[in-house]
Amino acid sequence: MHIVTYMRISVTDRCNERCAYCLPHDVTIEWLPKGQILTYEEILRVARVATSLGVTKFRVTGGEPLVRKNVADFIGELNKLPGVTDIGLSTNATLLAPLARQLRANGVNKVNISLDTLDTDKYRELSGNGQLADVLAGIDAAIDAGFPQVKLNMVLMKGKNDNEVFDLIEFAREKAVTLRFIELMPISTGEVLTDDNFISVSHVRRKIAQRYALVPLPEPPSEIKGNGPAAYYEVSGLLNRRGQPVRLGFIGAMTNLHFCDTCNKVRLTADGKLRPCLGSHLEYDLKPVLRANDTSDAKLREVFVQTIRNKPEEHEFRNNYVPGRKMIAIGG
Ligand code: 5AD
Ligand code: SF4
Repeated sequence: MHIVTYMRISVTDRCNERCAYCLPHDVTIEWLPKGQILTYEEILRVARVATSLGVTKFRVTGGEPLVRKNVADFIGELNKLPGVTDIGLSTNATLLAPLARQLRANGVNKVNISLDTLDTDKYRELSGNGQLADVLAGIDAAIDAGFPQVKLNMVLMKGKNDNEVFDLIEFAREKAVTLRFIELMPISTGEVLTDDNFISVSHVRRKIAQRYALVPLPEPPSEIKGNGPAAYYEVSGLLNRRGQPVRLGFIGAMTNLHFCDTCNKVRLTADGKLRPCLGSHLEYDLKPVLRANDTSDAKLREVFVQTIRNKPEEHEFRNNYVPGRKMIAIGG
């Protein structure tokens, strides 16, 4: 049985962007009505139950988590739960600059930022009208705010951004942050999600290895270690301004057959479904339990334990997986 110590919390299904692989323009979006979204109090109740069952790490996601009002205050409350050691945030960073310091002060210690391109026009195209400048300001603000861990996530799309792999490595070096390459996953119905656009992380890794020596990091140091299935490497001889080698992560969700072996997470969707696996349609609804008259946590614990017990051994992405919920409603 998987030991679950990590919970991803989607605080909203909404987003201010429309990434090609997540929420493309041609997909009609019906945002969840507000009443269906868990209140912060409800999320905190679930999170408290989670900590009582051994969860020590949380990651706040969306949609775009920073579009939800008062998210920094919510995080401050999350940080007060017993036993919490880590709070991560996954964001497109467009709204991060003005919030970075408060988020840091309220307990966020890990920030993952989506950055698929450094080209302004391409960014606009891939994000469905976003401004790269806002993202870059968000990245700088995150670095200034002193989060112990800042990572950039680049989702690989053949013919769209694979020509920028080395530019992104250089950018990560300049900013002294870790860069991760992610394989496209069939999570939404976006047109970009076809085999033609897919490139494996090992292909990209081989390309990088033609230019630089890559040294595997089987035990990544704490400042880059995450809870995910990324494989980390150091780029030998390529030093950032802190004198550290540039570190790269490879997330081979589609091609790595051991991807799920060490999975330790569950996901809470914005509308209160507990999902034991991103790549499985299995989910357990906590909302009726939260909104029932019974105010004890016993039933919540029961659903939580059941979710963990039924956690699949691996995702179903290689099995003609048909996306159900959009990625955005699951929280990445
Ligand atoms: N395939 C791979 N990665 C995805 N993300 C969102 N949708 C997909 C997809 N279909 C990534 C985002 C972000 C993280 C939360 O998930 O780029 O970095
Ligand atoms: Fe928004 Fe992130 Fe989805 Fe892009 S990937 S549309 S930024 S939630």
